[in-house]
Amino acid sequence: MTAPRPRPEARRERASDERDGVLSLTGVDLTTEVVRTARLVLRPHRPDDADAVFRACQDADTQRWLLALPVPYTREVAEEFVTAVSPRGRAEGRELSCAIEADGELVGSCGLHHLEDGRRLGPEVGYWIAPWARRRGYATEAARALADWALDRGAHRVHLLADVRNGTSQAVAERAGFVREGVVRSCLSYRDGSRADAVLFGRLPGD
Ligand SMILES: CC(C)(COP(=O)(O)OP(=O)(O)OC[C@H]1O[C@@H](n2cnc3c(N)ncnc32)[C@H](O)[C@@H]1OP(=O)(O)O)[C@@H](O)C(=O)NCCC(=O)NCCS
Repeated sequence: MTAPRPRPEARRERASDERDGVLSLTGVDLTTEVVRTARLVLRPHRPDDADAVFRACQDADTQRWLLALPVPYTREVAEEFVTAVSPRGRAEGRELSCAIEADGELVGSCGLHHLEDGRRLGPEVGYWIAPWARRRGYATEAARALADWALDRGAHRVHLLADVRNGTSQAVAERAGFVREGVVRSCLSYRDGSRADAVLFGRLPGD
């Protein structure tokens, strides 16, 4: 039997005790935290997001580049994601998983992962934008806002990994203020068993 997960409060205390550039979640209720930008609201997922998430995640590029996305991406998977997976990451203090909303509609999802264990590379930013909402700069705006959120709370750095073949995501990273730091070989593993190299991007407080 596995040991029960510590309560989120306990995990937060431990993270702050062992602080080594890990951001501080003091005073932050991750379960309700909302990040706002000029055009976007990055908010917790809600049950009524399931339909838009389901439709968006049928997209071939999203399925290609998001390693953890279940394929086939069924309506049940979308429901599980918005009602359980995404809220659990927040409740356990591990990640700030967000729906990206523009003009009241869900246009994508993004997240800040490894909030507790990102001691070396810092938290990791990830994102996808629904095919019908691309090329409006939404991914760039969301990635920049999540990085700012982490750096404002004391993270010593934030990182992002994009497959060396995913030029669009690399362009987003650079436009969001991240600096290309190098290539991490064979760090991505795909559903078909193949592995790929990723460009590592980082943003520091001064970037
Ligand atoms: C990557 C993704 C999130 C971009 O979303 P988006 O909201 O359209 O991105 P933005 O509008 O902020 O920026 C896209 C910019 O990248 C640039 N770009 C597009 N393809 C490019 C390429 N192959 N090489 C270089 N730049 C490229 C474009 O110039 C575009 O800028 P423009 O609109 O001013 O022309 C979206 O395409 C997506 O969800 N893809 C599938 C999932 C994915 O790859 N997620 C990232 C995994 S690391």
